[in-house]
Amino acid sequence: MEAAPLGPTDQQINVKEQVEKMTKDRSAHQTNDVAKLEVDGKTLELPIYKGVVGPRAIDVSKLYGQTGLFTFDPGFTSTASCDSDITYIDGDKGELLYRGYPIEQLADKGDFLETAYLLLNGDLPSKAEFAEFSKAITNHTMVHEQMQYFMRGFRRDAHPMAIMVGMVGALSAFYHDSTDINDPKQRMIASRRMIAKIPTIAAMAYKYSVGQPMVYPRNDLGYAENFLHMCFAVPAEEYKVNPVIARAMDKIFILHADHEQNASTSTVRLAGSSGANPFACMAAGIACLWGPAHGGANEAALNMLQEIGTVDRIPEFVAKAKDKDDPFRLMGFGHRVYKNYDPRATVMQQACHEVLKELGIKDDPLLDVAMELEKIALNDPYFIEKKLYPNIDFYSGITLKALGFPTTMFTVLFALARTVGWVAQWNEMIQDPEQRIGRPRQLYNGAASRDYTDIAKR
Ligand code: CMC
Repeated sequence: MEAAPLGPTDQQINVKEQVEKMTKDRSAHQTNDVAKLEVDGKTLELPIYKGVVGPRAIDVSKLYGQTGLFTFDPGFTSTASCDSDITYIDGDKGELLYRGYPIEQLADKGDFLETAYLLLNGDLPSKAEFAEFSKAITNHTMVHEQMQYFMRGFRRDAHPMAIMVGMVGALSAFYHDSTDINDPKQRMIASRRMIAKIPTIAAMAYKYSVGQPMVYPRNDLGYAENFLHMCFAVPAEEYKVNPVIARAMDKIFILHADHEQNASTSTVRLAGSSGANPFACMAAGIACLWGPAHGGANEAALNMLQEIGTVDRIPEFVAKAKDKDDPFRLMGFGHRVYKNYDPRATVMQQACHEVLKELGIKDDPLLDVAMELEKIALNDPYFIEKKLYPNIDFYSGITLKALGFPTTMFTVLFALARTVGWVAQWNEMIQDPEQRIGRPRQLYNGAASRDYTDIAKR
């Protein structure tokens, strides 16, 4: 059988046209407004930019050159690190838009591959564009057979996120022909390869951890359906994917697909800014996502609900979360940007109910704890004052557990879906004519220059 093309042919997609379409025009953001900064007796005028929506931004890029001063913003709470056309969050309203489309509409009416096309290309696909894109993705779900042997070097009890970091980084060792970031065609092929192969790698990591043989992808199944099949089918018997569950999985992927300049996306951009190949950049993103303050929160939230166990123990945990001397936080609560209900949490809560209903799970004690905890926290002055609302991870754990995934797989599923966002953001960065290596500065507080002392005299 002849292999399907790796990506669209040059006739199908005019790469130059695509690149030009996505090339940025920053002059469109310029306003006549300036911010005046008085420093060392000089007044400096700093240009102010205005995006389509959202807060305006002061351009401080020339500040160091003109004054010798840096800006100081640990955690980047007030810093826009780039300009982007992909995703917009209004944290006060609790709004999330992918290329302008509200997340609720995409989750309700769209599907994940269509969302992936949208994030990558800027617009929803036509029928023909969608057919070409989904065919390219579905036909490249297999990974190099040698990757199986590579994976076997891991311990069986390795955390699947550890396997993901290694396997995705290793893609650059298996697919050399799409690592030239200066070639738009190779960038497109690498992007599509990652979206196509990440479910296979995630399912391999899962199968490996439970001691079952890998299940090869099936190109006749949809994206989420194929993933569930690779995770839960076994060679010994037929496995039919429940369409309601596949739809819920697809929705979960849509909800996680992108989230503007979060920690892992910024990591991907920073890694990519040095010219590193895209597979290596995605591995960096996965490593960052793993942390409990970010993607690891879904695993941590479920562990927390299990630890709370019963509704009567909630006040004890809420008190711990409010105690300044206790590092404990309510996992699945709070967000750097959302100061309102996370819109993804609303959709996730619905998906959670749909899954539990479909699976006939009437009384899930964890769901009872979650709903009561949410109610108590939302009425508590501490959480109200600090604007701490449930985020996407609060309900995703219960849903994923009901779907049959162990907690260690939760962040893997997040990484799978977020790969699309990382790829879209990485492409946008590479195509930005003003893109330079990301190189933050620092406020140095260590020892001043001093002379080396010989070890005998120390
Ligand atoms: N429980 C209790 N208190 C909290 C919580 C929480 N979950 N989150 C924040 N606070 C308090 C925090 O102690 C601080 O109080 P104070 O002003 O008195 O020092 C205040 O609220 C502000 O917190 P912060 O850490 O300065 O806020 P941040 O923007 O740096 O952190 C966060 C955001 C998401 C890391 C944080 O809210 C958190 O750790 N939440 C739990 C982990 C979690 O659910 N993460 C998933 C985020 S959504 C998925 C994703 O995008 O990755």
